Amino acid sequence: MITLVHASDVHFGKPFRPAAAEAFLDAVGRIRPDAVVVSGDFTQRAKVHEYEQAAAFLARLAPLPVVVTPGNHDVPLYRVFERLFAPHRNYRRYIHDDLDTITRIAGATLVSLDSSAPHAAIVNGRLDRRQLAFAREAFDASPASDARIIVTHHNLAPAPDYDGGPSMRGAGRVLAAFAEMGVDLVLSGHLHRAYVSRAHDVVPRNELAADVVIVQSGTTTSSRGRVRERADNSFNLLRVDDRSIEVTRYLRRQRAHDFEPCAVQRMPRPGVGRLERPVHHE
Ligand SMILES: [Fe+2]
Repeated sequence: MITLVHASDVHFGKPFRPAAAEAFLDAVGRIRPDAVVVSGDFTQRAKVHEYEQAAAFLARLAPLPVVVTPGNHDVPLYRVFERLFAPHRNYRRYIHDDLDTITRIAGATLVSLDSSAPHAAIVNGRLDRRQLAFAREAFDASPASDARIIVTHHNLAPAPDYDGGPSMRGAGRVLAAFAEMGVDLVLSGHLHRAYVSRAHDVVPRNELAADVVIVQSGTTTSSRGRVRERADNSFNLLRVDDRSIEVTRYLRRQRAHDFEPCAVQRMPRPGVGRLERPVHHE
């Protein structure tokens, strides 16, 4: 079994809450996961001092493997010249050299894909064909039994509440490609509230090879929680074994000290179908 902690939208800068960050680091210390995922929006305005603080925060997770991806707030929105010509300069300098990454731990391959699209779709995000090919190659080179996990900032499924924001551009096409690659799980953020969805919530059943599990984290350390997590913070604990995925949502209420588990969802691992499907040779 592998154990992951999935945080998102930490937003160093004005909305950052130091007390929430300390509570999060305490929780990670207690859980002792195999890896930590932070699915984008490290900063509020992509400024150097915000990135310096974000890098110091990530350093405190060492020696755990940490999987990262840029969010739309990690590229400058108002510094237009920088956005056009060097949008990820500060991200690359302080968070990670590469925008698309592959992380292998025992039992899982995690591929992070940059959805921030600073020239095109800065709010809704997008993934292109080259990135889907990058993920496919990474998974093709992995043991068949590995959990296959995608990390990307923008949500591929809408929130199941009354305040639905749009999903990533081309979400159906992207999910169909992931299902075909045998992806088990997609971890994202962006909407600042936690929920669990499935690919079939977005794309009809007969158009997908598998019902990929989609897990969203709220904002783990900022004051920008939305809708039912207004002013709250959240992260997810995931336990993935040969047959199932269990997601525990941890919530830190506005005036609380610690994160507390508040919901547990368990579902079959979609990639198991990939392993058990008979191979037909023509
Ligand atoms: Fe955000």
